[in-house]
Amino acid sequence: MANREDYIAVFDSGVGGISVLKELVSLMPKENYLYFGDSANAPYGDKTAEQVRELTLQNAQMLLAGKTKALVVACNTATAVAIDLLRRQYPDRVIIGIEPALKMATDRFPTGRIGIMATQVTLREEKLSHLQEQFPRAQVTHIPAPGLVELIEQGKAGSPETKQLLTRILAPYRGKLDALVLGCTHYPFVKEEIAEILGTGTALLDGGAGTARQTRRCLAEAGLLNEAGGSVTVENSLGTPEILQLSFALLEG
Ligand code: DGL
Repeated sequence: MANREDYIAVFDSGVGGISVLKELVSLMPKENYLYFGDSANAPYGDKTAEQVRELTLQNAQMLLAGKTKALVVACNTATAVAIDLLRRQYPDRVIIGIEPALKMATDRFPTGRIGIMATQVTLREEKLSHLQEQFPRAQVTHIPAPGLVELIEQGKAGSPETKQLLTRILAPYRGKLDALVLGCTHYPFVKEEIAEILGTGTALLDGGAGTARQTRRCLAEAGLLNEAGGSVTVENSLGTPEILQLSFALLEG
C-alpha cells in the first residue's frame, strides 16, 4: 500500500531526466523525490530495443520495490520501448512515461513543419509512428542527434564541442521548421544553444511540464498527493561524486 510521503521515483538513462525532475519539483515542491540515473549504461538511444527494455525493467523493478508511490519514466527512449510492458507488469502502480511533445507542436502548428529530435531508438519505434498517425496534416521530419547525449553526460552542455555538433545537425533546418520537439530529456539542457542556431522563428517544445502535470493528476486521482514533504535524493548507477555533482548542478541550474 503506497503512502503520501513515499517517493515519486524519477528514472532516466542518465542525467537527462533531471529536466523532468525540475518541472516536477517546480509544480509539486512538497513531494519527496528519488531520482535514479543509469549513467553507467547511457546512452540507451544507441542500444537495441531489447537491451533498453531489459535495463528499464530492471531499474523499474528496483525503484518500485522501495518506498515509491509513483514511477516517472523520464526517458523518451525507455517509454518508447517499455511503458506498455511496465503497465502490464504493475497494473496497480502509478506509472507515467514521457513522450515527444508532438501534440503540443501540432496544437500550435496543425499543418506546420515540425522536427522531432530524438534518439535512434525513439525515432524507429512504433510508438512514435502511431503518435504521428494522429496528426496527418503536420509535416514531420525526424532528426537524430548521435553523440549529443554523451556530451551532456560528460557535463559539456555549453561547450564549443557541443555547439559544433548541434550546428552540424541543425544548421540545415534554420528557417525551415515551425517547431522543434526536443524528444529526449537530455536536450532541454542545450535549449539555448539550439535556439541560437535555429533562431526565433522555431518554437522549441518538450514534454517535461506536461509529464509533471500528468503525474500530479494521477497522484490526485489515487489520493496520494503530499503537502508535507519536500526532498530530492539523487542516485546514479555510476556512483561517482562527479556524476552526483553534475546531477545537482543541472537541477539547480
Ligand atoms: N534521455 C533519454 C531520452 O529521453 C535518452 C538518452 C540516451 O540515449 O540514453 O530519450
